[in-house]
Amino acid sequence: MSRLLVVTSDGTERVFEAGPGNSVMEVIRDNGLEELLAICGGCCSCATCHVYVDPSFADRLPPMSDDEDGLLDGSDYRRPESRLSCQIPFDEGLDGLRVTVAPAG
Ligand code: FES
Repeated sequence: MSRLLVVTSDGTERVFEAGPGNSVMEVIRDNGLEELLAICGGCCSCATCHVYVDPSFADRLPPMSDDEDGLLDGSDYRRPESRLSCQIPFDEGLDGLRVTVAPAG
């Protein structure tokens, strides 16, 4: 099991544990954190799974696709560390990953 640290909009940090085979979005959703809407279910078409990823993990993330990049461009809250959490497979290599749920919009 690997640990995923999630900071919510009120600054609370939650810790979830998960095995491989799910995206970061799925780990968050399956642990009942409802503020990450993930409306499209992981199809990379909604951007409601937007998170800020701890920059120290940047080199361990998969490259960003053009679709993900385009969706993030539509957000008023995009930052250099922005990613769509449904596009990040969560596995042992990301144990201890810390993400912050981005504001909607
Ligand atoms: S859940 Fe819709 S883009 Fe990630």
